Amino acid sequence: MPDLSVDIHKLHLKNPVMSASGTFGYGPEYDDFMDVNRLGGILTKACTSKNRDGNHYPRMAETPMGMLNSVGLQNKGVDYFIESIYPKIKHYDTHIIVNVSDSTIEGYMEVAEKLLPLENITGIELNISCPNVKEGGMAFGTSCTMAAAVTRAVRDVYSKTLIVKLSPNVTDIAEIAMAVEAEGANSVSLINTLLGMAIDAEKRRPVLATITGGLSGPAVKPIALRMVWQVAKAVKIPVIGMGGISNATDAIEFLLAGATAVQVGTANFIDPSVCIKILEGIEEYLVRHRFSSVKEIIGGLSA
Ligand code: FUM
Repeated sequence: MPDLSVDIHKLHLKNPVMSASGTFGYGPEYDDFMDVNRLGGILTKACTSKNRDGNHYPRMAETPMGMLNSVGLQNKGVDYFIESIYPKIKHYDTHIIVNVSDSTIEGYMEVAEKLLPLENITGIELNISCPNVKEGGMAFGTSCTMAAAVTRAVRDVYSKTLIVKLSPNVTDIAEIAMAVEAEGANSVSLINTLLGMAIDAEKRRPVLATITGGLSGPAVKPIALRMVWQVAKAVKIPVIGMGGISNATDAIEFLLAGATAVQVGTANFIDPSVCIKILEGIEEYLVRHRFSSVKEIIGGLSA
């Protein structure tokens, strides 16, 4: 059997397939559909310093080959996470990485500092790319200066693995990746959603209460692949690829483009056991092409 393990900084992943934040709850929601322990890692829904009720409804819309969301970082805050969610997920035999967001740098730091002592939270994913909030979120991820500042501030208080989740809503994503690498990020994950919009022509109204939302699903895959390829060439830290991955072939394309691992998002809503199918499909591909390790295909795109 080929070796599927990969390393993201200090995290040794049993395989490169992780669930993406906001599409997988905290893990137990999927226990009926798969053995969650088989995943390389779980990325939780975003966690902020205080409770957030999220945006008004409607906040989801189906689009051709994808969907729009404008959830607005709904969650009950970091203290609730520590008291009520962590005890229910800490038994998992996989990496649990908390997606961290906020509206201020101090808020990001507070969440990171509070999560640091939790033994089974092995890393955080700094979300500087949510397009659905008025303050913070993507505002941090679309400027090199802001992205660097929040990364540095969190780096100073958080000693475990720090992944920074990048926004595709920029002119040059490689520039942002290099800025956060320079401030101590151990990995970058990309892409978060693309800012989009849907209109109901009959009602002559926007579909989403927030008017705009984040586009995900197969429609964004070619953009995500291009960005992963650009970023993987620009930084030395491992890149985690995501954006429209729906099957093993999609995942393999991201690995070939230079991603060390992948996250599966929107596809979980269509098939809740898709992550395991992707994992098994990668293994089958490696056997069929006689690779002994998944590492042999990372960045293995022929010119
Ligand atoms: O609206 C949301 O909660 C989305 C978060 C994200 O895209 O990071």
